[in-house]
Amino acid sequence: LPTPTSSTTIRELEDLAILYRLVDEYQSRYGAAPYNISHWDPSGETLSTVLKALRLPQSPLVAPYIYPGHLGIQQDIVRRLGTFAAEQSCLVVPTGTNAILFATWWLKTLGCTHLLVVCPAYFPAFYAAEIMDLRCTKLYMRRENRSWLLPKDQILAAIRKTPLEIAIWITNPIYCTGKYFDTADVEFLKSLLDRRIAIVADECLCAVGHEVGPNLSDSDLFLGLYSPHKSVCLNAVKFAAMVFDVRYRQLFTDWADVFVGGLAASTHSAVLHFIGDNFSHFQHAFTDRINPVRTAVAQIVRDCGTSLDIDDGSIGHLITCYAPRIRGDAGDQPTFLREFISETGAVVIPGIRNHFSPELGFTFRLNLARACPQFYSALHRTVEYLSRR
Ligand SMILES: Cc1ncc(COP(=O)(O)O)c(C=O)c1O
Repeated sequence: LPTPTSSTTIRELEDLAILYRLVDEYQSRYGAAPYNISHWDPSGETLSTVLKALRLPQSPLVAPYIYPGHLGIQQDIVRRLGTFAAEQSCLVVPTGTNAILFATWWLKTLGCTHLLVVCPAYFPAFYAAEIMDLRCTKLYMRRENRSWLLPKDQILAAIRKTPLEIAIWITNPIYCTGKYFDTADVEFLKSLLDRRIAIVADECLCAVGHEVGPNLSDSDLFLGLYSPHKSVCLNAVKFAAMVFDVRYRQLFTDWADVFVGGLAASTHSAVLHFIGDNFSHFQHAFTDRINPVRTAVAQIVRDCGTSLDIDDGSIGHLITCYAPRIRGDAGDQPTFLREFISETGAVVIPGIRNHFSPELGFTFRLNLARACPQFYSALHRTVEYLSRR
């Protein structure tokens, strides 16, 4: 057989498989699974509270082929996402992952050969880039005073160093932190677009109203990826939209036949939900459920002293907890993870698996939508264990 030229294994998934083997090990020893305080899915308690506020419209389209480019409500979606430049169009696809693949292909059509991925970031971007022959360089956001900043000097140095056509991939909010780009960083991104450097913003987890897209959309080299239901912890009712300069409309519409095909009525129903009145009602109900959890979690973390930290002013259900005294690569070590799970009865997704800088120490995601008695007990034990380590 010829030697494969690209990755055939996905490191992030192998890492997860190790984690879940440790979970099985714990379960067979103690008869119950450790509680996952990072998992995507909300707890039953959160669901039963917030689902009361969800009114999902049914799509009237049952039989016809729903072409993504012919949905007829693209402008409603763009308007609902924010005040973008007038010349924006959008294309609906079923998932954020579809949008990521499409985005890397768009970069390839622009002639880009090199991608600076500002991390942390959602992992499929690296593999999609590889498929499209984009060479990736990872740079890390800087965390200072419980906030996050773009590594501007490193970005400029990387641009100076490479003779290749370079593009930049950012994730807003900073992946799994609930923290958003500040005004100075948005201005910096604008200056890169002015220098004709393409930017893709993965805003699939962005709380509606906090997008950077509207501020960057004056440039034809900006592409924004959105999936608003994900920001309220809904993953089975959702769609994703790519927002781009109108000059690419035909290109995206045509290539949707290659990357996407026809949409399901459930995707259409999610779009109708988003542009209707109930989305913001649901968003309020979700925020009302999550914000008291945020306050309680902050108290639990800060009560343990200075060995653990979380960000100030996060928005949404996914946040990150930092244990700077423990090495960042501990999150990659089965022996550490085995001890962690066994001592705490909790399981976490370490930040290193989401491309957080190991220099931040051991970091892990907390999903505030998982709040329930087991969540709080697991969090207490986690905080107690990490602060005495
Ligand atoms: C930042 C980010 N972008 C894109 C995606 C992909 O979205 P989907 O699950 O709809 O494929 C995810 C998934 O969790 C994500 O976290």
